[in-house]
Amino acid sequence: MNFHQHISERINQLESQGNLRSIKEGIKSDKWISFEDKRMLNLSSNDYLGLTSNHELQVTFSEQALNPKLGWTAASSRLLTGNHPIYTELENQIASDYQKEEALLFNSGYHANTGILPAITSKNDVILADKLVHASIIDGMRLSDAQTIRFRHNDMQHLQQLLAKYNNHSGNIIVVTESIFSMDGDCAPLQELVALKKQFNFLLYLDEAHAVGAVGEKGLGLAEELQVIDQVDFLVGTFGKALASVGAYLVCSSLVKKWLINTMRTLIFTTALPAVNVAWTLHVWRYMLQAKKERTHLKEISSLIHSSLNTEEQKCISQSHIIPFMVNDAEKSILLAQKFQENGFYVLPIRKPTVPEGTERLRFSLRADISLQEINELTLFLQPCR
Ligand SMILES: Cc1ncc(COP(=O)(O)O)c(C=O)c1O
Repeated sequence: MNFHQHISERINQLESQGNLRSIKEGIKSDKWISFEDKRMLNLSSNDYLGLTSNHELQVTFSEQALNPKLGWTAASSRLLTGNHPIYTELENQIASDYQKEEALLFNSGYHANTGILPAITSKNDVILADKLVHASIIDGMRLSDAQTIRFRHNDMQHLQQLLAKYNNHSGNIIVVTESIFSMDGDCAPLQELVALKKQFNFLLYLDEAHAVGAVGEKGLGLAEELQVIDQVDFLVGTFGKALASVGAYLVCSSLVKKWLINTMRTLIFTTALPAVNVAWTLHVWRYMLQAKKERTHLKEISSLIHSSLNTEEQKCISQSHIIPFMVNDAEKSILLAQKFQENGFYVLPIRKPTVPEGTERLRFSLRADISLQEINELTLFLQPCR
C-alpha cells in the first residue's frame, strides 16, 4: 500500500468513527460567530474576557499599531536581530505584576511547553505530570530526556506516593500541572500541591493558559487567587486566550531565564513575534489588570450554568468558565452540537484524540460579554438536553 492509499484508508476510518475534523471556512469570530449565513452566540472560543468584541480597546491601540518603529515582522530570532525594546517592556511589566525576578516571552503556549520542559530536564530527572495535561505539555515531555510518569487526574494521594517513591532520587523532580483544565474546567488543588512542597523536594511547573485574564484579582491566574505565586517555580501563561493576542510567557528566576535563553530550542530557533503584536499584548495586558468587572461577571454566569447542569445523578465537574456537557458518545455529541447551533449557540463536539474515547462532550467556553439574558436563554435550552 502506498502512502496516499494508506492515509486515505485512515481518513475513511476516522470518518466512520465520527472523528474526522475539518477547518471551517468563512468564520468571523468574536462574541458572535457567522457561519453559513447563521449568526450564533460564540461559546467555543477561549476569548474569556470577550476582548475580541471590545472595539474601544482596539481603537485606543490603532495609533500605536501604525507606528513605523514597531515592525510587522521580526525577520529573525530574538537572539539574532529579532529583538525589540517592546519585548523587554512587556517582560518587565509581567515580572513586576507577578513580583518575580523575570519573565520570558515565547511565540505561543505550544512553543513554551515544548521548549521549556526539555530545556530544564535531563536524563537523571523525573517529571510527574497530571494525566490530563494539554498536548503541548505531553509533547514537551516527549522531547525531554527525563523519565516521565503521569499521576491520576488531580489525585494528590497518587502524586504523594510517587513523590515518596522518588524522594531519594539523585536528579530533580518536576511536578507539572495546569491550573484550570482545558477540557473539564476543573482546577488543580494548588493549595495541596504547595503543601506537598513542604514535605518533598520538587519543582512546580504550572500552566495557567486558561486562568490568565479570567481568574485572580489582577487576572494573573489561579496562583494569584490562592496567593501561592511564590511557590510556583515555572509559571506559564498564554496570550492567545483571554488576552485576545498570541504568544506566551514564563515567570521565573533570573537564573532560569538565562538558562533558557541559552538552551531552549523553541526560543532560539524560531522567528520572534512581530513587535506590533507584542505591543498589542502589552496594551491588552494593562487592560486585563483592571478588568475586575468582567471577571466577576464571568464567575457569575459560570455559576448559573454549573447550577443548571447539576442533577441528582451527575454533578457538573467544572469550577470555572470552561464547562463540559458530557455526552460520552462521538456520534451523539456531533448531533447535539448541531442542535445547539441550529438554535443559535455555537458549541462544538469534543472528541478523540482531544479527550479519551467514551468521554465525548460539548464544551461551553463562557465569555464575559455574554449578558444575563443570553445566559438565561442558554439555560432554558440546556434543561431538556440534560
Ligand atoms: C493548557 C494549555 N497550554 C498551552 C496551550 C497552547 O497555547 P497556544 O495556543 O498559545 O499555543 C493550550 C492551548 O489550548 C492549552 O490549553
